[in-house]
Amino acid sequence: MNSRRMMVVLAGVCAAGSLVFGQEAKPGVIKLPALPYAESALEPAISAKTMGFHYGKHHKGYLDNLNKLIAVSELESLPLEEIIRVTAKAKDKDGVAIFNNAAQVWNHTFFWNSMKPKGGGKPTGALLEKLEKSFGSYDKFKQAFQDAATGQFGSGWVWLVADGDGLKIIKTSNADTPVAHGQKALLTCDVWEHAYYLDYQNRRKDFVATFLDSLVNWDFAAAQLSR
Ligand SMILES: [Fe+2]
Repeated sequence: MNSRRMMVVLAGVCAAGSLVFGQEAKPGVIKLPALPYAESALEPAISAKTMGFHYGKHHKGYLDNLNKLIAVSELESLPLEEIIRVTAKAKDKDGVAIFNNAAQVWNHTFFWNSMKPKGGGKPTGALLEKLEKSFGSYDKFKQAFQDAATGQFGSGWVWLVADGDGLKIIKTSNADTPVAHGQKALLTCDVWEHAYYLDYQNRRKDFVATFLDSLVNWDFAAAQLSR
């Protein structure tokens, strides 16, 4: 993206305002949000070893790359979500790299918050009603989420997103994110192999079943509805 086009795009984005999820944007530095629980807190569903690598190496790696890429650029003072939107359609090497790393920073923070110790199972209240209205039943939602996760070819993410008055499941490849498409995410599961290979090897289906049965943070998902 050339600098003139970048400035035009930035003017539009800044005028539109922004939502910031979990990340603090200060000039030149986007911070790594703390995990909402200890690295061992999701055991045995996800081991401390997996969390240590996933958060401490992968998530931090995306963040370090992003901060290097945006340093001394027009992007460095923008909140993370705006950086994602500005670079979502970039075709040039630097723009694509910034998008990929920014989106992965956001996606991972959202993933950590999509889980909690002793989570999983059915939601309650208005969210359960929306799930049942949108999918027919909780079990049908669960099957559709598992099918999307196992059907995602290669690396990516499965999401529960708002869809008008209802909900729907989408999957995104690699770093792609609902933020880039103006969609409101409620929940996500990371289906990159680095998310589960140490604990589940090639059994993505088992990992996603455990995510739904033992990890999902429905309180977080419900809170996203009112964002
Ligand atoms: Fe990941």
